[in-house]
Amino acid sequence: MIAIAKTVLLGLLLISWTDFLPSRTEPSTKTEPSPKPEYTADAQLKLPEHYREWVYLTTGFDMSYNPAGMEMGHHMFDNVFVNPEAYKAFVVTGTWPDKTMLVLEGRRATGKGSINQKGNYQSGETMGIEVHIKDEARFPGKWAFFGFGDAKTAKMIPTTAACYSCHESHAAVDTTFVQFYPTLLPIAKSKNTLAPAYLKEADAPAQK
Ligand code: HEC
Repeated sequence: MIAIAKTVLLGLLLISWTDFLPSRTEPSTKTEPSPKPEYTADAQLKLPEHYREWVYLTTGFDMSYNPAGMEMGHHMFDNVFVNPEAYKAFVVTGTWPDKTMLVLEGRRATGKGSINQKGNYQSGETMGIEVHIKDEARFPGKWAFFGFGDAKTAKMIPTTAACYSCHESHAAVDTTFVQFYPTLLPIAKSKNTLAPAYLKEADAPAQK
């Protein structure tokens, strides 16, 4: 009986093995995190839906990029994630490889719920998802920004937008804001990959 069962099992194994070989060339299944950026035929970026399984870099709270601040009437968190392949390369080199995808997820803050009495936590409500992506062959400036609303695809934000100039002039490494990603900044420092413009700014008295 056991011998028969073994033979059947072996047969099944052989069948599944031979089945497996041709399928290796097929694209990965939908449940795996997407390793590469995917675009539609009309050059829109597809939302990397599994970004929540990527490497977590930081959470900003009510960050604002002008002295007056933005009057939004509510508080907001922003969470930053990066695809694991790019993260691993950054740890070794201090900078981003081709096909890096960074996702910034905005979430409305809330203070009222369950046992919470003080402080804020992140609500289930996302407030936009933005992607910063390095695709050297595709974008003349190597990097591009995409902003997702409710749709699963997004058009590239034109290079004349403020996204590009602010990231270019103030971000610490290769147009990304590594100065706000606490585990990455020491790596960039030790690998000497900090942008000259950032180093100059970091030396300015206002920053001390
Ligand atoms: C005035 C400066 C400024 C402008 C303009 C700006 N950003 Fe950023 N961006 C930042 C800062 C600062 C961070 C770091 C956020 C954090 O630490 O949570 C950031 C982080 C990001 C990230 C995370 C990855 C990275 O590159 O560090 C994305 C994605 C992003 N911004 C998209 C955009 C898009 C899209 C626009 C334009 C619609 C934009 N940003 C405009 C300052 C700016």
